[in-house]
Amino acid sequence: MKKELATFIVNGVSHDVVITSNMTLVELLRDELNLTGARESCGDGDCGCCTVLIDGKPTLACLTLAVTVKRKNILTIEGLAEGENLHPLQKSFVEHGALQCGYCTPGMILSAKFLLDENPNPKREEVKKGLGGNLCRCTGYNKIIKAVLSVGGGGK
Ligand code: FES
Ligand code: FES
Repeated sequence: MKKELATFIVNGVSHDVVITSNMTLVELLRDELNLTGARESCGDGDCGCCTVLIDGKPTLACLTLAVTVKRKNILTIEGLAEGENLHPLQKSFVEHGALQCGYCTPGMILSAKFLLDENPNPKREEVKKGLGGNLCRCTGYNKIIKAVLSVGGGGK
């Protein structure tokens, strides 16, 4: 397997990592950089648990080869809080009880961040559509949708 030394910008920090040509982004994040917020569940593009933002856009890390995102801006859930201060979406998920096991939560929050970056005041149907690629096995979705609407202003 071909190996190379590559540079990745993750949460604003530059990392030089030896990768193989078949290494996925979720493997890079979890196994090489110890950033375990992005989860691999289905490994097949169906659940959204592995969602991260690449140059601001939601991307499935299980289907993305690491070699294709060299030097791009990768944002994972670990990069969202500012020091001790949680991001408003993280606070809102806690306040609305929008997580149970938490397995889907990092991907859900990053998809919600993209949605609110694009549309700061979404309607309920727009939130549902925006989170359509992220599956949750626990919450029934209502609390998640309320948490996102609350940050966007639509739930007030
Ligand atoms: S683990 Fe990537 S979409 Fe399910
Ligand atoms: S909180 Fe358990 S899968 Fe969503």
